[in-house]
Amino acid sequence: MHTRAVTASITALLGIAALLGIVALLPPGSDARAGGSAGWLTVVAHRGASAYAPENTLASIDKAAALGFRWVENDVQRTRDGRLVVIHDDNLQRTTDVRRVFPDRSPWKVKDFTAAEIARLDAGKWFGRSYAGTRVPTLKQYMREVEHNHEKLLLEIKNPGLYPGIERQTLDLLGKEGWLDRSHLAGRLIVQSFSADSLRIVHRLAPAVRTGFLGTPSVASLHRYADFTDLVNPPYTALSRGYVSAVHAFDGAHGRPLEVFAWTVDDAATAWKVVGYGVDGVITDRPDVVRTALAGF
Ligand code: G3P
Ligand code: CA
Repeated sequence: MHTRAVTASITALLGIAALLGIVALLPPGSDARAGGSAGWLTVVAHRGASAYAPENTLASIDKAAALGFRWVENDVQRTRDGRLVVIHDDNLQRTTDVRRVFPDRSPWKVKDFTAAEIARLDAGKWFGRSYAGTRVPTLKQYMREVEHNHEKLLLEIKNPGLYPGIERQTLDLLGKEGWLDRSHLAGRLIVQSFSADSLRIVHRLAPAVRTGFLGTPSVASLHRYADFTDLVNPPYTALSRGYVSAVHAFDGAHGRPLEVFAWTVDDAATAWKVVGYGVDGVITDRPDVVRTALAGF
């Protein structure tokens, strides 16, 4: 039997046992309890610890670090003058005060504003008064904070169709910031996207970078994804044990079995369910909730 299949079966059994209250899933003091990777489960703070601090800001990754989590997920897009910034939506309305600062600039698309204009916006007040003054970070500022916090990065290239060349530009910046050296590539960086084309470009330009496809490709098409990606990351609602096993049966772009990170897993019952399916990681706004769920049986 494939090693990954054995691991998945064990994980599934552990998940069932945990649900029945028979075993503690993670040994005390394990890396996963601390929010990192335990080899078979990685917990990723989605958009930073976004339930507790404004998403995609330095505050959100600082919060993830403060909670004891190593992996953070964030989204990169590009300004009108070609600067990379960390933000989820293709427009600035939901997570900044852009309507107040630039009332005549509807529909307030990220790509229509310069970096200097975006730097004037408040990206924290919408979330809570204590975060007033928080800014939309540039990718450069963001990478420096991730490095400062000794974190690991699941970086999503968001809406790549809007930003031709964003893959090369992102890789250039990652390289300049020292994130394409052996130690970062080995265990601290994954680039993901909903766009297979974008990931193919990343894989062609920087074959050593691990990549993850966001979505649920048909089992029949998985072999094609395995050519350029290392992970398949579906919404948890699309998952089943059979699908996770099917993904695990393929070796990915770096010769190891494809992995599965499920999103967005924010409650204990869902965490138990997807761990029972044999996922390798969960992406969550509430990493502490997942940690408690998996440690507290
Ligand atoms: O990492 C999974 C997740 O980020 C994909 O969805 O919309 O939150 O970027 P979204
Ligand atoms: Ca994302």
